[in-house]
Amino acid sequence: MQRVFSGIQPSGIPQLGNYLGAIRNWVALQADHECLFCVVDLHAITVWQDPAQLARQTRELAASIIACGIDPRKHILFHQSGVPAHARLAWIFNCVARIGWLNRMTQFKDKAGKDREAASAGLYVYPSLMAADVLAYHATRVPVGDDQKQHLEFANDIAQKFNHDYGVDFFPPIQPLIQGPAARVMSLRDGARKMSKSDPSDQSRINLADDADTIALKIRRAKTDPQPLPDEPAGLEGRPEARNLVGIYAAMADTDAAGVLREHGGRGFGAFKEALAALLISHLAPIAAETRRLLADPGAVDAILGEGAARAAEIADPIVREAERLVGFLQIPSAAAPSSHVRS
Ligand code: TYM
Repeated sequence: MQRVFSGIQPSGIPQLGNYLGAIRNWVALQADHECLFCVVDLHAITVWQDPAQLARQTRELAASIIACGIDPRKHILFHQSGVPAHARLAWIFNCVARIGWLNRMTQFKDKAGKDREAASAGLYVYPSLMAADVLAYHATRVPVGDDQKQHLEFANDIAQKFNHDYGVDFFPPIQPLIQGPAARVMSLRDGARKMSKSDPSDQSRINLADDADTIALKIRRAKTDPQPLPDEPAGLEGRPEARNLVGIYAAMADTDAAGVLREHGGRGFGAFKEALAALLISHLAPIAAETRRLLADPGAVDAILGEGAARAAEIADPIVREAERLVGFLQIPSAAAPSSHVRS
């Protein structure tokens, strides 16, 4: 059985892009894969996070992932900081990766913005940590949205260079799984920008916690153009906002753009938006309700993460220990300090 790994940052409430681009595909993969899903709090602090909010959002995101249909008993759901093997392997990977490779990462350029000198060093080496996340488990399949493709190519470059430098065949190649009509969900306010939990405008995204009225209003206000919907996908060319709404509809209804346009082509956006809002509400309302139910017992959510981290560490520790041995680190078991060295 192939091993799946994927992660999501607790840097805000998950939005529809996270759900359609990633989490929904995670749910499907559970049937025939051994899966690890990680709330990546180490990645989140590459940009400033209020500490109390980070802790709360980590728990809320875990609850939301379970509410979406991830089974933490059959599979493993955990918080990244709970498994130190990630940071240990990331350090080795920082020393394998080349600065030239990191300089090509488009997400760093986007996130750092104009003032790159002021970005954290963590944001710069973010992709090494992401490679470590996957490779610490020898995971081979990684379901993500389209925006993570370059990071996974980077992870494969690191795996290859590690194997080459140390003369081994230790890290396997990883296969990105980027699937479906919603691998790149765009902002509701601007069809050229991706939907993101960090966009300052809440109107730009559907949050998994939004109530029915909020979802209906955001879809009604979503930017469109004055033309009716085309009859065929080719007619979406040059109409990014229309293409985005059709893609969202297709993903939610488990069809493709052609299927959506067979039903809605030729109609104006008014009726289409109403149908889309109804579809979103019927899918997302039960997820929001289940998330709230789970969060009524925060201790139970924390226990799931703690148990997940222990099970994840059981897989990652021997793999990372072997990577450390290959690098040449002494394998000395840590012993209790002699009593004469213990400070009183
Ligand atoms: P993050 O937290 O930004 O997003 C989590 C997942 O959601 C996908 N996604 C989208 N898909 C479609 N349309 C969108 N608008 C959209 N926005 C986000 C992302 O592609 C991602 O799959 N670096 C990762 C987290 C990570 C990770 C990993 C992923 C850390 N380690 C190891 C896979 C394997 C990130 O920031 O995702």
